[in-house]
Amino acid sequence: RPQGAPSELHKTFTDRTYLDGFVAPPGTPMLPGCDLEGVLGKGTFGSVMLVRERSTQERFAVKIMNKEHLLRENQLENITVERQVLRNAGPHPFIVECHSGFQTEDVVVLVLEYLSGGDMFDLLAKNGTLEEEEAKFYLAELAVAIGELHRFKFVWRDVKLENILMDELGHIRITDFGLAGRYASGQATDTSIKDISGTAVYQAPEILSRKGHGRIVDWWALGILAYILVAGRPPFRSDDYKELFSKIEKEELDLDKDERTKILSVEMKSFINGLLVKDVNKRLGSQGDAEEVKGHPFFKGISWEELEKMEIPAPL
Ligand code: ADE
Repeated sequence: RPQGAPSELHKTFTDRTYLDGFVAPPGTPMLPGCDLEGVLGKGTFGSVMLVRERSTQERFAVKIMNKEHLLRENQLENITVERQVLRNAGPHPFIVECHSGFQTEDVVVLVLEYLSGGDMFDLLAKNGTLEEEEAKFYLAELAVAIGELHRFKFVWRDVKLENILMDELGHIRITDFGLAGRYASGQATDTSIKDISGTAVYQAPEILSRKGHGRIVDWWALGILAYILVAGRPPFRSDDYKELFSKIEKEELDLDKDERTKILSVEMKSFINGLLVKDVNKRLGSQGDAEEVKGHPFFKGISWEELEKMEIPAPL
């Protein structure tokens, strides 16, 4: 089918039975004309299935969440905000595309584009660590993607390796916005979101101190991720949550002391240190958000307009 034209599956959902918010009658086939090819992931609220549309042979990643479970865990807000993010912030080259969303009696379903390149967790597991040039490329695309979410006044709050998918060429697409939040104003001091969620090692100090937090938590988490990409492990580590959180809040990192990070360029060290500033108002990104982050010397030489067409630096 011509690029950009809606697939039959897409049309089925939007034109006919499965309008958003519409509850299909029991017995209606959920994904007519599709074959189930496998399971891509299982989460707390459901699974992501790999589905192939027979007529076009096109693959989709179908995220199915159990309504009862969502309700029991008070997660209705989360799936609503996830749908909002996907609808508002997309389509964007670095954000996973949502073809449609619908519901049945029992489940809420998001039909997402399928990305065949795996996620960044697997990439790192395979390579151990990335070369700085390679990490820089991924971090550049991430900065753009996070900036795009922020532009729509969403805080992602779930920056982590597992939520960064890759297409067949290795370009990233971020996914999973179940923990995202909406913030009212663009101020760095915005304190509209107050709960603790997300993965422990990526939590910003201001989340842990429960002072309320805003979009700047995503830049902290990007700093954690940057460190993980080149060091192969997180900067703050402990099996014990209490100790981990105390380190995040108090421990000062010294990248020149650690064997794994002292070899990094001055620019990359400054980039990581800038993002991992504990004071929200002094953190890289606190003043000019994505533009400030993208303007850091670490990204010198990155052509932001060409990024999505750039060839991925091969691992050495
Ligand atoms: N796992 C979760 N979402 C996915 C997607 N959209 N494509 C491939 N794998 C996934």
